[in-house]
Parts: sequence; structure tokens; C-alpha cells
Amino acid sequence: MTAATLFREQATIDDVTARLLESSAALSYDPQTEVAWDEPIPDDHYGLNPEWSTLFGTRLWDEMSEEQRVLLTRHEVGSIMQTGIWFEMMLQQLILRDQYAKNPANPEFRFALTEIADECRHSLMFARTCDVLGIPQYLPPRATVELARFLKSTARAEQAYGPILIAEEILDVMQRDWMRGENVVHIVRTTSKIHVVEEARHMKFARAEIKAGLENAGRFRREMSARLFAGAAWFIARAMVSPEVYVNVGLDKERALDEARNNPHRKAMMRLSCVHLMDFLADCGLLTRRVMPIYQSVHMI
Ligand SMILES: [Fe+2]
Ligand SMILES: [Fe+2]
Repeated sequence: MTAATLFREQATIDDVTARLLESSAALSYDPQTEVAWDEPIPDDHYGLNPEWSTLFGTRLWDEMSEEQRVLLTRHEVGSIMQTGIWFEMMLQQLILRDQYAKNPANPEFRFALTEIADECRHSLMFARTCDVLGIPQYLPPRATVELARFLKSTARAEQAYGPILIAEEILDVMQRDWMRGENVVHIVRTTSKIHVVEEARHMKFARAEIKAGLENAGRFRREMSARLFAGAAWFIARAMVSPEVYVNVGLDKERALDEARNNPHRKAMMRLSCVHLMDFLADCGLLTRRVMPIYQSVHMI
């Protein structure tokens, strides 16, 4: 890569991050004081809008009592939040590694550290939400956790920011509904609002980093990145809701998993969450013939 190209890339990133820093200074939240943690939780309020439940629209959903539906949505939101914490922990390490020994005078450096601080507060607020709702620990499958351990220690440039963007985009669309759900518990509504506002900046940053990383990438590197993104998307999509949630609300795990996997409503919601992401990936030349079946297999396209 030439010095002129590097200079141009840095100038673009600095331009984007300078604006993001201004936006962050104007509107950021402290969840510890912003969320009404002590306000009682009404018994009939869901953890997430029922339409976002993995079982909504299935025969099993129709057979469940209303209390069971409420409980299921609370465990589902808790599981998604804990997948979020797991991801935010990886992301903080990826960004910290990427910024190691970079110039602190650059807006890129300062925004990257601002993002780490945001993510740290987000993980704290998700953890507290799970605590208030009485949700047990949920972790993605062991193999996924170990694979991610490898990724977070090795990925750089667009290969670090790609999986970050994928996770943020999927969560964003869901949380826009959760924050407006009148029958959704208030701590989920408020934490979702905070997350949507602050993540909008993270997504802009990730898109700029991915574009900069790919600017001079040849066919081979682009294909490798396309495959890595699709692989990450597959694992993220499958790790969102732990199968253990069904056991913990008293459902038959195998039947629930089977109905959730074949639920046409869930597949449609998944595709809806990924519309913007797919547009961006197509724009970057990352939706190649080889990776399309991977996205289709988890209903992201
Ligand atoms: Fe976050
Ligand atoms: Fe983020």
C-alpha cells in the first residue's frame, strides 16, 4: 500500500471519527442513573415484544400459558443480552489491539477508546438487567466461545470490524422495537434506547473501518474477508438465544428447538433485521457467490 493511500484512508477515518466524537459529547448516557432500576416490574410485562420471541406464531406458543410466554420472553432477552456481553468483551479487546501504539492525537484513537468505554457501560447495564429479571447465566456453545477466543486475538482491520458490525446491526433492529414496546419491561425499553443511540455511532465507525480496510484489497483478500464475515454471521445468528431458555421456562427442549428452527415468522424477522447489513455487504463486494448459501442457511437473506 502506498504512503498516499494510507494518508487518504487515515484522513477519511479521522473525518468520520471527529464527527462521531462530537455526537458522542452531545448525547451519551450513564445507564446507572438513566435507568429506573428500582421501579417494580409488572408481572404481565414481556422481556421483549412477543413478535421477537423465537416461538411466536408456532403451535407451541399457542399452547403456552400467558405467564409462560412472559417468562420465555424474559429469558430470551436475557440470553440475547448475555450474547451481547460476550460479544462486547471480544470487541473491546479487538479495538484495544487495533489501537495499540497508535497516535493518541488522532480522532480515530479517541473515538475507538470512547467506543470501548460505551461497551463497558453497555455490558454493565445488560448484566444488571439480567440480575433484576432473575435470569441465569447463558453462554454460546463451547466451540463458538473458543473460536471467538482465537478470532479476538488474531483479527485485524476489516476482519476485526466485520463481525462487530454484524452483531451490532442484528441487535439494532430488534432493540428499536423493544425500546417502543408498551408491554415490554421498562428496564429493557430504556437500556435498548441507550444502546440504539450509542451503537448508531459504533456502526458508522465499523463501516468506515471496513471500507478503509478493503479499499485496496485484491480479489483473494476480499474473498477471505467475505468468508470470515459470513462464518462469523452464522455463529452469531445461532448463538443469539440459548436452547437452555426453553428448559428454564418448563418447555420440552427438543420440541421447542424444532418449532423455533422451522418458525416462518422467526425467519422473516431475521431477514428483516439484516436488510441494512446485506445492502452494506453487497456494496463492499462481500456478498460473493460462495458466501450467499451461508447467509441463507441462517435466514439473514
Ligand atoms: Fe454495545
Ligand atoms: Fe458497539
